[in-house]
Amino acid sequence: MCGIIGYVGRNSVLDILLDGLKQLEYRGYDSSGVALKCGDKIEVYKAVGKLNNLRDKLEPHRKNLLDAKMGIGHIRWATHGAPTIVNAHPQTCNCGRLVVVHNGIIENYKELRAKLEKEGCVFKSQTDTETVAHLVAQIYEKTQNLTQAVALATKELEGAYALAIMHNNEPNTLVVTKRNAPLVIGVADDGYYAASDVPAFIKHSNKAIYMKDNEIATLTPDSLTIQDGNGNEVTPKIEQLPWEPVALSKMGYKHFMLKEIHEQPDVIRNILTGKLHTSDSPIVLEEVKLTKDILKNLSRIQIIACGTSLHAGMIGKYLIESLCQIPVDVEASSEYIYRDTVTDKNTLVIGVSQSGETADTLTAIRQAKAKGSHVLIITNRPDSAMAREADSLLSVNAGIEVSVAATKSYIAQLTSFYLLAIYLAEVKESANKEDLIKLKSEMLAIPQKIEQILSHKDDIQNCAKKYSGTRDFIYIARGINYPTALEGALKLKEISYINATGYPAGELKHGPIAMLDDTMPVLSVLMHGRVYEKILSNSEEAKARNARMIALTNSIDPKLDDLFEYIIRVPEVDDMLSPLIAIVPLQLIAYYIAEFLGKDVDQPRNLAKSVTVE
Ligand code: G6P
Repeated sequence: MCGIIGYVGRNSVLDILLDGLKQLEYRGYDSSGVALKCGDKIEVYKAVGKLNNLRDKLEPHRKNLLDAKMGIGHIRWATHGAPTIVNAHPQTCNCGRLVVVHNGIIENYKELRAKLEKEGCVFKSQTDTETVAHLVAQIYEKTQNLTQAVALATKELEGAYALAIMHNNEPNTLVVTKRNAPLVIGVADDGYYAASDVPAFIKHSNKAIYMKDNEIATLTPDSLTIQDGNGNEVTPKIEQLPWEPVALSKMGYKHFMLKEIHEQPDVIRNILTGKLHTSDSPIVLEEVKLTKDILKNLSRIQIIACGTSLHAGMIGKYLIESLCQIPVDVEASSEYIYRDTVTDKNTLVIGVSQSGETADTLTAIRQAKAKGSHVLIITNRPDSAMAREADSLLSVNAGIEVSVAATKSYIAQLTSFYLLAIYLAEVKESANKEDLIKLKSEMLAIPQKIEQILSHKDDIQNCAKKYSGTRDFIYIARGINYPTALEGALKLKEISYINATGYPAGELKHGPIAMLDDTMPVLSVLMHGRVYEKILSNSEEAKARNARMIALTNSIDPKLDDLFEYIIRVPEVDDMLSPLIAIVPLQLIAYYIAEFLGKDVDQPRNLAKSVTVE
């Protein structure tokens, strides 16, 4: 999950590459590099760390580089070899005349490397990518045609790749190709762009061609030719992109994460518009392409996802089982794909992914499709690989999420699960009508309740400050909010690096209680409803071991003051809808603790937003 960009055209390429890489930083940020065709040479610059380091390195050379009109760039999330200058991309062949940037993993790189070394190639890095540079260069020596060399070389590659390649002998030609990794071409009057994702070039072009696996595109300032894996020329399908560059501004907030947390009420309103009109009208979900008869007889649902999306899926299970009485399994995609999963054409498989590109989830849904299951995708990226694989597509429309830690996309996924579960219940007539009307009516009030929480965020900031010195953190909850505890803990881990764990509160006594003492904060998600009293008892058990108790609650019971040393109060809400409310203070606690500790909130170490390797 690196980001790649390339440009060939009539404009100066340097800032096109640097600005484009800035927009791809969510894909990785441990090192970066560019290669520019300058006169009769290709100049390569690389830097370790954030993109600014590369900018600083380039600054003294800027004047000499401004004439270059073709180049490639890369932002790295290390997989093979540490983040060092030699391992940063672009990678080069022996003579340095061929340069390549790569996103993905070449799985057979060891065998290829051994073969190429025998043939005299001298490797400088530990990357899998360098094999591509040597391989293509070696074939180019014979063919003297870059497109042909790439076509032949990629036949020998196994794994995933999006590649952009230049050769010094071909002053106006950029060749790009992909397999199991995203690559989009931007078409503009000034030339052609290619990148891992559209934000990298959207300010120059809103006309895009989504490349298909094994296609090879040859770009020059005035022409674009695409051939398929068999060498046949294909007519590209140019799509008009909907996004405006303004979506990428912080709008006065200190971090994208804080801005995105504040966008959540509007994200929910946006999703509900057109789908949930009034509490007594049925949910409209035209995106679900299964007939009502099939939906009525669904015997099983599987939800597959990773990370935060997995937590949204866990809440989805709870909702669908409660309202529709359909058994639901939820599983991490990375586990789903490496066991003998039982699925068939009577199973609805729901893939959940903010990016729509996560390799594990993509592989999992492809497996399910191959077994005949109907695949419904819930994603924030209707232009993603998963969206293109979907039989039914529920686009959550949260807008671009820049911060690596997912917040508004999570609430958007949750909202979509509520709509889907209520829709299924209405089709199946599996829930009490009055209960559904009440649920829908309360659903419409959720955005306002989140706004109330956001207006009291100082209280949450104080709480964060109080506990920011801690080494560990435990979150406990039961029932529908157990995934909320997991998600709260994940947020804290991701951006503050504090060892945070979520437990079902009833499991505390079966092991984790051994860790409790007066240094351990335990946050109870204590929302009114079915399991309120149970969590209260589990909180008493923790208190009896001197844990530092925090409550996140909608109860105003004064007795809580004796049990908890800090209480975060949220508005009253139906038990079933409480995950939409309870997650917001947990996102803010994680944010403020990380901010207080001076961490890089939007780009936490070792993470990437879109993980396109398995
Ligand atoms: C990465 C991100 C997580 C995200 C997970 C799944 O690990 O850092 O924030 O939840 O991928 O991503 P997806 O795009 O499939 O939701």
